[in-house]
Amino acid sequence: MDDTREAQRVLAVDFKTPLKNAVESLQGKTLLVTGAASGFGEAIVTAFTKQPGTAAIIADRDMARGQAMERTLCEAGCSVKFVEVDVTDWSSVTRLFRSALVWLRETYKQDRTIDHIVTCAGVTSENLDVTPVQPDDFLDQKTESKPPASRSINISITGSLYTITAAMRYGMGLHKLEDIATRSDKSITMLSSMAGFSGMHLQSDYTASKWGVRGLFRSLLSGGEMDASPVRFNLIAPYFVATPLTEAWVPHLQNMGIKLADIGDVEAAALRFMGDKLIDGRAAGIWQGGAVDLRDDFAGGFGSSAMSEGVDSGVLRQPTTWISKARM
Ligand SMILES: NC(=O)c1ccc[n+]([C@@H]2O[C@H](COP(=O)([O-])OP(=O)(O)OC[C@H]3O[C@@H](n4cnc5c(N)ncnc54)[C@H](O)[C@@H]3O)[C@@H](O)[C@H]2O)c1
Repeated sequence: MDDTREAQRVLAVDFKTPLKNAVESLQGKTLLVTGAASGFGEAIVTAFTKQPGTAAIIADRDMARGQAMERTLCEAGCSVKFVEVDVTDWSSVTRLFRSALVWLRETYKQDRTIDHIVTCAGVTSENLDVTPVQPDDFLDQKTESKPPASRSINISITGSLYTITAAMRYGMGLHKLEDIATRSDKSITMLSSMAGFSGMHLQSDYTASKWGVRGLFRSLLSGGEMDASPVRFNLIAPYFVATPLTEAWVPHLQNMGIKLADIGDVEAAALRFMGDKLIDGRAAGIWQGGAVDLRDDFAGGFGSSAMSEGVDSGVLRQPTTWISKARM
């Protein structure tokens, strides 16, 4: 990271004091969100496209939801395009960026590229089956050997890696930005989770995937490839929020007194990260009461003190048996 860029960094974001012009500065910008047809992605695209002159690409593997969302937003006068993608498949991801650029050229008749990316695509995991098998049955091959689930690892880690790489190579017009020492308008925001700072019972694949996304985030910040890039990287790590992803768990979580976080705070943090050019390398924890800067850096003990504050104030529970096997 060059000195100019380092010196400009905001060392902690005060989410309680919104930057007045952060959202207005999104006017005329272009956003691509993966996993955009539902939950956080849908909320972020919908909020973004309220700003005049914006364009957004809804990237998701769910065609029915994606096309319905495209119709609704187009009818409301927004400029959006749905593109089907499976983020775990490299050729599907490169097709996504090709389709996005073709649409932007055809619609705007100019060399418009993507300014902001948010990687929301994600799924929960299955229980890890570690039931011991009789050695004789195993040796006689009587038991079918099923590999453990790794869907979440593939979607969150490989999917984020593919999306970010393709975005920076092909989608964001970075070949034109010569002065990399100047803070850019371009940003990538990655979705991790509170599970990426702690652990989540019966969600091994999911928990590993969210630590993995955070590992990717930390690696991208630490220099190397990114020294030559003007893109700002930030991370959002929500606690439980009611979305289609968690809808089966929500009644159970509420019965247990788990304090759900608000989707509006996820949306606001994403817009702030995109619109505030001085924010680079920050991680937002989203829990009941709003967003907090998790201080996921050396000075902040990589989030440990902020997590302790969350537990002490009662908004976070220690990872424990909060979801019973029967309910997954
Ligand atoms: N809801 C929560 O409580 C919560 C908390 C922390 C983190 N998160 C994370 O936030 C992100 C969004 O979650 P959400 O609650 O909005 O979920 P959601 O289920 O509402 O939306 C996820 C979207 O990702 C899409 N998707 C899944 N696999 C895909 C693939 N291979 N390619 C392309 N798209 C794919 C789905 O079709 C869906 O539209 C996820 O990464 C999730 O892990 C959610």
